[in-house]
Amino acid sequence: MKKYYKTIKFVFVSATFGLILSSFTSCGKKDVNSPGFEFMPDMYRSPSLEVYSVHTIDGDTLDNAMQPVKGTVARGYLPYAYPNTAEGYDQAGLNLHNPFSSQKEVFEKEGEVLYGKFCVHCHGGTGAGDGKVGGKLPGPPPAYDGALKNLPEGKIFHTLTYGKGTMGSHSSQLTQEERWKLVFYVQKLQGPKESTSDSTKTVAAVTPTVTAKH
Ligand code: HEC
Repeated sequence: MKKYYKTIKFVFVSATFGLILSSFTSCGKKDVNSPGFEFMPDMYRSPSLEVYSVHTIDGDTLDNAMQPVKGTVARGYLPYAYPNTAEGYDQAGLNLHNPFSSQKEVFEKEGEVLYGKFCVHCHGGTGAGDGKVGGKLPGPPPAYDGALKNLPEGKIFHTLTYGKGTMGSHSSQLTQEERWKLVFYVQKLQGPKESTSDSTKTVAAVTPTVTAKH
């Protein structure tokens, strides 16, 4: 009997330990993500804020970090004043001029490189509108040195910014500076302007509307 007593005691003690151990390990089984017991958790969790969401801290609502602070202009970004309307297009043709005229020579060359990447497939190497894609469009692009010969620089820039007809906007692919580089190169392809310029015609067409408003 004594022999059995030792064995029973051993079984009893190990069962008790086993129970205690399993009661520890089974803690937190309900929620697998639970870190379990935390001792003095004051600094374990910092109140981290998601950057691109709106937060309210002490009653103040903080704007989404994607929005620029009101009344400010983001670095490297120039606001474009002309709206995407027929009037905005005409006004750009009248009043918008290339701010990089002093860098014309260099910018024209850089514009040529950009043209080869972004425009040539529609407008063709000489700007005749005979690019591989351009020829397949329902209305192929007009020739720069033909119908578009006297198109003013402001309108070229406006079209690059917003797009026109089947030509999409290029403002997400090209910075404003790059668009002005392309304007120089398009002007090179337009060749010398004819005496009756498009802008003169536009002045006659647009000025009365503007005067009538004031
Ligand atoms: C998907 C083909 C396509 C691409 C790419 C394209 N264009 Fe055009 N583009 C056209 C078509 C079509 C027109 C004629 C739009 C109209 O008048 O309806 C046009 C018109 C123009 C005009 C005349 C705009 C006006 O005010 O009448 C200019 C300037 C021009 N494109 C320059 C460019 C430049 C520079 C690029 C390269 C950044 C470019 N295009 C890329 C198809 C394209």
